Amino acid sequence: MTRLRAKRHIPERMERCAGRWFALPATNKGKWREVCGFPEDCELFLEIGCGKGKFCAETATANPDALYIALERESSVILAAIEKAQELEIPNLFFVNADAKNLLDYFEDNEVDRIYLNFSDPWTRKKKPKRRLTYRDFLKVYEKIMKPKGEIRFKTDNTLLFEFSVNEFKELGFELSEVTRDLHNSEYDADNVRTEFEQKFADQGIAIKRLVATSPKA
Ligand SMILES: C[S@@+](CC[C@H](N)C(=O)[O-])C[C@H]1O[C@@H](n2cnc3c(N)ncnc32)[C@H](O)[C@@H]1O
Repeated sequence: MTRLRAKRHIPERMERCAGRWFALPATNKGKWREVCGFPEDCELFLEIGCGKGKFCAETATANPDALYIALERESSVILAAIEKAQELEIPNLFFVNADAKNLLDYFEDNEVDRIYLNFSDPWTRKKKPKRRLTYRDFLKVYEKIMKPKGEIRFKTDNTLLFEFSVNEFKELGFELSEVTRDLHNSEYDADNVRTEFEQKFADQGIAIKRLVATSPKA
């Protein structure tokens, strides 16, 4: 009941955070920096599937000169992220409530510097791998909207998704670095920002897998 009641208020609560998210993201295509009031040469980082926004809030706060756009398709989930960014008054973090399958409508070629994929849904059932956000068709889109040598930073708890993704990245010519199958016990943990799901899995003793994939685009 409480959840349903809360869901009924999503439009009003979103409205209270107007300016923090974009209802028509396609109108920003090719001009995100300008629309958000950032210099043309600033870095633009995109998080896909941001959930409740702990990761983007912390990373945007730590990198105030970069522009962060966080995309999430579930309105009840992104609302929590938007309200958090609003409450903390994070000036360089904005949101899009949409599906990653439409990214080409929202971003111009070479517009994005880096993409974060944190704990993407693993879609472990047979016949579903095409839905994975590291499936090759998605990687081709990321390559297109990213600058040459743009980076994808990918973390997951799921071994099957991780090994599948390693293979997809390699097949498309991405260069892999900082690959670890136990992030929290690796040298890369020092500047790691934990997401909500990451904390949950770590509490359960599940090792986190992580890699950086650099676009082959020259
Ligand atoms: C397992 S949760 C992880 C949330 C957060 N990144 C974290 O690590 O705590 C995956 C999130 O990705 C979102 N998501 C999955 N597929 C998506 C898509 N195609 N476009 C946008 N968001 C998506 C889901 O709605 C969900 O909130």
